[in-house]
Amino acid sequence: MTAPTNLDTRQALAERLGDGLTWSMETLGVYLGVELGLYRALDELGAVTEAEFAGHAGIAPRYAREWLEQQAVAGYLACDDPQRPAAERRYRLPAGHAEVLVDADSPYHAAPLTLALAGIAGVLPRLLEAYRSGEGVPYAEYGRALRDGIAAANRPMFLHELASTWLPAVPDIDRRLRSAPPPRVLDLGCGLGASAIALARAYPRATVLGVDQDEPSVARAEAAAAEAGLADRVAFVVGDAAELVQDGSFDLVTIFEALHDMGDPVGALRAAKDRLAGGGSVLVADERVADTFAAPGDATERLMYGWSILHCLPATLAEDPVEATGTVLRAPTLARWAAAAGFTDVEVLNIDNPFWRFYRLRGQVSTSRPPPR
Ligand SMILES: C[S@@+](CC[C@H](N)C(=O)[O-])C[C@H]1O[C@@H](n2cnc3c(N)ncnc32)[C@H](O)[C@@H]1O
Repeated sequence: MTAPTNLDTRQALAERLGDGLTWSMETLGVYLGVELGLYRALDELGAVTEAEFAGHAGIAPRYAREWLEQQAVAGYLACDDPQRPAAERRYRLPAGHAEVLVDADSPYHAAPLTLALAGIAGVLPRLLEAYRSGEGVPYAEYGRALRDGIAAANRPMFLHELASTWLPAVPDIDRRLRSAPPPRVLDLGCGLGASAIALARAYPRATVLGVDQDEPSVARAEAAAAEAGLADRVAFVVGDAAELVQDGSFDLVTIFEALHDMGDPVGALRAAKDRLAGGGSVLVADERVADTFAAPGDATERLMYGWSILHCLPATLAEDPVEATGTVLRAPTLARWAAAAGFTDVEVLNIDNPFWRFYRLRGQVSTSRPPPR
């Protein structure tokens, strides 16, 4: 095979960036649809004209027309009669699209991912400053859209996989959570609380305590637990996972896609370990990346590095970190952290998930010190 000429290389890269712009703008078009309730309106109305749609969704008619046309051109919506005058055309959600765009409980509900991109877009000027100064951009500054985006990305997995697949893959944990005395679970970096709520639903004897350093997340988690009727068994507190003040011991400590975000991950693991009841375990789910750096990388590495440069690394740097690893937490790094926290056993669990790898950490009570910076 002959090496590509410079012209081929330039052409390919220029086309890739052009395509990227199209995809990015279409992604933000979906963001408008999610935030303004436009897909919900379409789902409620069925095939609809632009005037009916604008009235029901409560948006201005001229914007309604343009957005509907753009969504149909992009293939998110179907237009039944594109040759008719604009005001007479009918638009609808094609079969299957409502699940992705509207149905919050569907495993395919990907539309809110676009919120995360909008959250990142909102702090771009801060990111430019941070890259120059070396400082961080606090998690809270990414705002509600980013919180909602992350939570919506992970919630379907907690709803559909946590109790049916993940925990049954570790039979002794599953058994303990079903038995007496009532099991206690600690969920570190709990975000908006979906994992804690799913755990409590699946294991009616269990009480769950969620901890997160982000106050608005904890407030939202508390409201979600109350709405789910689980406030008597699910509680949340604001705090740094590395500086837990809670007394008592826990049969299971979970950390779902949050260890890489923590400024002191070894401190957090040590705090978790110090609170384990006899026979207890720590279950960590973090990114399913390769063990070593390679470039170019596959789709997962590309996604995780995208998160890392735009969100996770800046947010961790804002914690005055001991470590700032970014999103790409590789298994050898996690094993090093676990050993530094005093765990003697790190098991990679055989759980099939496209985004996360699952680790079970066990060991005696920690006496080790943090590794040097
Ligand atoms: C990617 S989000 C994951 C949230 C949740 N576990 C989920 O799966 O939806 C990471 C979470 O870690 C929290 N976090 C970051 N640093 C933390 C720390 N030092 N202590 C406690 N929580 C922390 C963030 O506030 C955020 O809610």
